[in-house]
Amino acid sequence: MTAHLKQDKPDTRNLLDKMRQGVIGKPLSRPDGPAKVSGTAPYTADHAVENCLEGVLVTATIVRGEVADIDAQSVLTMPGVVAVIDDERLTARAAQGGADEAPEQPARKVGYFGQPIALVVAESFEEARDAAKQLKVDYRADDLSDIPLDPVQTDPEPQDDGTRQGDLAHAMTSAAHSVDLTYRTEGHASAAMEPHAAIAEWDGKRLTVHASLQMLNHNIIELADALDVKEEDIRLISRYVGGGFGSKLGISEETVAACVAAMELGRPVRVVMSRQQVFQCIMRRSETKQRLRLAADGDGKLIGFGHEARVSNLPGEDFAEPVLQSSEFLYAAENRLLQLEVARIHRMTAGSVRAPGEAVGMPALEAAMDVLAEKAGIDPVELRLRNIPDKHPSEGLPFSSHKLAECLKQGAEAFGWDSGPRKPRQRREGEWWIGTGMASAARVHNIEEAKARVTLKADGTALVETDMTDIGTGTYSILGQIAGEMLGLPVEKVLVELGDTRLPRGSGSGGSWGAASVGSAVFVACNRLRERLAGKVGIAADDLVLKDGTAGNDLRLTDLLDGEDLCEEGHYEPGEIEDDYTAAGFGAFFAQVRVNRFTGETRVDRMLGAFGFGRVLNEKTARSQCLGGITWSIGAALTESLLFDPVDGHLVNCDLAEYHVPVHRDIPDVEVIMVEERDPAASPIQAKGIGELGMCGGAGAIANAIYDACGARLFEFPMTPDRVL
Ligand code: MOS
Repeated sequence: MTAHLKQDKPDTRNLLDKMRQGVIGKPLSRPDGPAKVSGTAPYTADHAVENCLEGVLVTATIVRGEVADIDAQSVLTMPGVVAVIDDERLTARAAQGGADEAPEQPARKVGYFGQPIALVVAESFEEARDAAKQLKVDYRADDLSDIPLDPVQTDPEPQDDGTRQGDLAHAMTSAAHSVDLTYRTEGHASAAMEPHAAIAEWDGKRLTVHASLQMLNHNIIELADALDVKEEDIRLISRYVGGGFGSKLGISEETVAACVAAMELGRPVRVVMSRQQVFQCIMRRSETKQRLRLAADGDGKLIGFGHEARVSNLPGEDFAEPVLQSSEFLYAAENRLLQLEVARIHRMTAGSVRAPGEAVGMPALEAAMDVLAEKAGIDPVELRLRNIPDKHPSEGLPFSSHKLAECLKQGAEAFGWDSGPRKPRQRREGEWWIGTGMASAARVHNIEEAKARVTLKADGTALVETDMTDIGTGTYSILGQIAGEMLGLPVEKVLVELGDTRLPRGSGSGGSWGAASVGSAVFVACNRLRERLAGKVGIAADDLVLKDGTAGNDLRLTDLLDGEDLCEEGHYEPGEIEDDYTAAGFGAFFAQVRVNRFTGETRVDRMLGAFGFGRVLNEKTARSQCLGGITWSIGAALTESLLFDPVDGHLVNCDLAEYHVPVHRDIPDVEVIMVEERDPAASPIQAKGIGELGMCGGAGAIANAIYDACGARLFEFPMTPDRVL
């Protein structure tokens, strides 16, 4: 087929392997690590800006309605207070939707409890906070009884046409084994450690904005759009980001408010959200309700596959948690029905939270697979092995690479999985039931356009520049490694500059695409540098061997450059090869849990993840991503849940004391196996996304282990003690 021919055409996609410098893939520590752990890396709010005012956001105390009047006079006489900004751009244009344009919500309208409606600016933070608390706001509030708040009781609308093949209902009735199960998952918060913050400076013509954001390449467009300022008059800086997990994909109110205030007042303004504000007005992951219908023949081969999900969002928002994303291709079956629907309710915007879609879709699917395995009397690992498709079941595209089977086998072996007949409630230690469970992992591979500039300096060092961000993922590390590998330099000789829109547009950090996308741009730039160097030596680029600062034999790079810097920009645009394949990361989770027979408390004793996600650029940062993902899996399985007041819809648990992310005590020894894989069709550097895969199914493995331990089949996540009992 054509895809195969394209693979065979001359291509540079194996170049990194030819370099043999031993820099790429190595578990090197982060160059930014020492500054971070010593507290000297400046995060957004840390920047010392002279003459800076402090702004505190005021948020709505009604669910839906209009701001009728804001009594600015009531606080303007308070000490230190400079201004009350209630510019309609705060309610109209600042939202966290996604790329490029901030979605328009109607000006002055309130759509959810906790929505920012004004900014109080003062000389000090304490003065601003005091005045913000005392600001009198009058609302025209809609009657609570008219406002849809409950996603279960609100009629949904279909998100798209869905996928329909064959006759699922018939498959269900004619199958040897079938399950028809409904699961619920509750909302999640991103809960990044660094709260949302911005400092804006306006010189009358140009804005300089420090902000904590994931996607500067899009954020600058969103901000220009929200403020009606030209993009070229804005400089966005975000060198260190204390976690994002989706919550900083788009701009939000603190950034817009700081800019509006700085432009109006002619002084720099800093706005830092409180933890409560981050929870109340930064996006949530939607709760879900999911129906799984699985029909299998006597051998456990799926003949019917149904996955229908309901999610929610505010009216007018485009995003719908893509619950069925990997269900589209994970298992083969002829009769298929996949359909997503959205209920419009008045909670804060629902958006991307780490691994949008699979984070909640995969656990439900994998829990249902466990029930099917039990009914069919087939080992759960074996059931999955029997249902791996050889191409995308509905689109027909081949997979770029596919390591699910290897992950299942290697994971089972390393974990010591017992493939004998399974029966719950077989092992007890004191008051604890002990059990094991497993699940597949899957997450789509995303890839984005990206640019980066690489300069080979006359002194023999290299500089990599892009407005790409490092949200704690290791971008500084891997870009230095790619350039070092390509140019024959140790990473100490490669300086990486990120997070400034004056640099070439990167891909931004999101959807696990960052490393493969912007890494490919650095690769392309280095390739061009290699061609220019080869020209100088008078040989073909293929024959050029760059090593330890030499260009072969005794020819030193510094002599070859002869006082001149060489600079090239790399522009990577996915397409030619990528479009012909279905690309995804795959893996397998294995978990051992203990469940207390009196309290219903669940503890994860042991967890193992085996993953295949293309080339590993840095073993240490890649492993850390997997550990982080598995930690999120444990949170989603056992504790994390946004709780809304049923009467007025406000978020009840809006801090880290009440929204329970796992702490060290909750995380057992976690083992990560990275299955060797190269994927030339996924990206020029043969890498796929890594960041999110670790939480795509893991909660399902824990659900299945809970059943094995104590015999409780649970259909609600998180599986808190009250539900286990
Ligand atoms: Mo991710 S949830 O796209 O940062």
